[in-house]
Amino acid sequence: MSSLWRIREATEQDLSRILDIYNQGIADRIATLEEHPKTMEEMYQWFHQRSPRYAVLVAELEGEVQGWASLNPYSHRCAYAGVAEISVYIDRSWRGKGVGSRLLRALEEKAKENGFHKMILFTFPFNDLGQGLYRKLGFREVGVFRNQGKLDGRFVDVMAMEKCLLEEIE
Ligand SMILES: CC(C)(COP(=O)(O)OP(=O)(O)OC[C@H]1O[C@@H](n2cnc3c(N)ncnc32)[C@H](O)[C@@H]1OP(=O)(O)O)[C@@H](O)C(=O)NCCC(=O)NCCS
Repeated sequence: MSSLWRIREATEQDLSRILDIYNQGIADRIATLEEHPKTMEEMYQWFHQRSPRYAVLVAELEGEVQGWASLNPYSHRCAYAGVAEISVYIDRSWRGKGVGSRLLRALEEKAKENGFHKMILFTFPFNDLGQGLYRKLGFREVGVFRNQGKLDGRFVDVMAMEKCLLEEIE
């Protein structure tokens, strides 16, 4: 992948591209149980209601954002303050070209910097690119929830995965 890519923290100006890319992932039915496109207002709230610890990163090529990734709260319980749930979404035209790998590596560094000891995620077992990305970056399958959620009226399985960021608790 070209070194012209830049990974940086997102700003409010990136929200319309973040929204477009997220809505592609929703429409494709491979990434999330969300069924309806998000609005700019929802993304604005999502961005501004998070504490700085829960970073949003974007991958930019020649001034255009082509992917984003975020650290999200996993639970409001204090005991889980060191656990971040993650999201990663790449523009359709750039999937399978290494952008997700680059973003997720940067997100991992950010998670360590921001004091998280673990990243977790929930994904569909049939999301082949997602599975490829997470396993390549060292995520471990925790297990599969059978018929966990509904997508377009049908039950779907959801896989939980994790990556510990502190060697001493591996
Ligand atoms: C899932 C997603 C984030 C992955 O990012 P990406 O940029 O496409 O992934 P990468 O190109 O970095 O590929 C990661 C690895 O997956 C593997 N891979 C590539 N193509 C694959 C395929 N068709 N099937 C299985 N694994 C594949 C490879 O090991 C690859 O690494 P390598 O090229 O260094 O060998 C991206 O495809 C995406 O946004 N998809 C739609 C939204 C989504 O599903 N988000 C995740 C929600 S859980």
